[in-house]
This record gives sequence, structure tokens and C-alpha cells, in this order.
Amino acid sequence: MKRLPEPELMVEPEQVSAYAEADFEEPHSNFINLLKKYCSKASEARSVLDLGCGPGDVTFKFADAFPKATIDAVDGSKEMLEFAKNILGDIPELRGRINYTHSMIHDYKSTKEYDLIYSNSLLHHLMDPMVLWNKIYEISSEETKIFVMDLLRPETIGEAKKLKELYVSNEPEILQRDFYNSLLAAFEVDEVREQLSQAGLSKLEVKQISDRHLIVFG
Ligand SMILES: C[S@@+](CC[C@H](N)C(=O)[O-])C[C@H]1O[C@@H](n2cnc3c(N)ncnc32)[C@H](O)[C@@H]1O
Repeated sequence: MKRLPEPELMVEPEQVSAYAEADFEEPHSNFINLLKKYCSKASEARSVLDLGCGPGDVTFKFADAFPKATIDAVDGSKEMLEFAKNILGDIPELRGRINYTHSMIHDYKSTKEYDLIYSNSLLHHLMDPMVLWNKIYEISSEETKIFVMDLLRPETIGEAKKLKELYVSNEPEILQRDFYNSLLAAFEVDEVREQLSQAGLSKLEVKQISDRHLIVFG
């Protein structure tokens, strides 16, 4: 099935609040567990970058799991960052460890050397996926660990409909729409391998880890 891109930024008020208020406990905890498994040195990371942080749930879970880390969290949606900042305001123990930046990924500049760069569910939003891989190449060093998780594009529309039915049929209509559109906008494993090769990141590994997710790590 051909890729059908979706809008990059999540800025519609109804869309943002549905996403921010959804229960992502299971998938986001799974993200942290997979990061621990595939990035064995994550617990040593002090300086960390979260690309496409959205309303912040993954960032909070990361900060909670890795108490020595300070996290720069970047998103191009002011609406998403408002949610993240409001929630952070209610968690005093995490204040000072998470710094938000409102920026598009390709515009983000940093002079820091990150120990770990991670991203969840950003790649499929990008019109041009090379924006993510080129940015990672630009700001990482030989020592930087990378962990990216994203959706995997199903082979057919029928398969995408089945996954929507299986995983989000009890969610609000807008989340069901976004999940379906995101599946159609996602990439296949071979496409991601080709992107990594173009970006000079062939050392990173790509692995399908469920019927709808892939990870990139190394
Ligand atoms: C599906 S959400 C994922 C949020 C978060 N990582 C999570 O797992 O809950 C994707 C986020 O990426 C942001 N985004 C998409 N394209 C972007 C770009 N080019 N630059 C910056 N942020 C972008 C969107 O605004 C949105 O907040």
C-alpha cells in the first residue's frame, strides 16, 4: 500500500485534547521498557533529547524511570507544549529536569552533546522522514545512543481497518481517525532502512516489534 502522509503538527484543539487526555499507560510504559531493553546504557544517560514530545507523557515516564537524566523536549505544536507544561507544573519533583522548546525538528539547534536521543510516534508525521534522521545525524556523536519507536504501515487498507478495530474501537472518534491516518502515513521496515542508509546512520538497527510498531536503535 502506498504511503498517505498526514498533517505534520497536531494543533487542532479537539485533536490535541483528545490525545493529551487519552490513556496511553500501556503503550508508553512499553516504550520505556523497550528503551531499557534495546539501549542498555540508557540508565547512564545524563543529557537526553525527546523529539516530538507532544503533551509529555513519555517524557514524564522517561524522567521517572531515569532519575539522573535531564531532558530537552521539543515539539512544533504550541498547543501540545501547553498541555505538557501544565502537567509538569503539577509534578514538582520533575521541574528543573525537563526543558521544553517550541521548534520544528529541522530548525532545532543545540550545542549540547546528548547521551541519548529518543522519539516516539514522530516519524510517521513527517512529510519528509529525512528531517528526523538528518537531525539525529547532525546533533549526535559516536557515543550518542538512539531509540526511535513508530507505527508500521500495514500492507493493505483492510489490514489498517482491522488494526483500528482491534486497538482503538473504544476510543473517541477523533483518536480512531488519527490512529487510522497515522497507520497509512507510517513507513515499512525496508523504507526506514533505506532512510537510515541515506542519512549515514546505517549502524542503527531496525526491528518490527509488534503487528503495528517498529523500533530503530543503536
Ligand atoms: C503522535 S504525537 C507523539 C507525541 C509523543 N511523542 C507521544 O508519544 O505521546 C507527534 C508529535 O510530533 C509533533 N510534530 C510532528 N511533526 C513535527 C515537526 N516537523 N517538528 C516538530 N514537531 C512535530 C506533533 O505536533 C505531535 O505533538
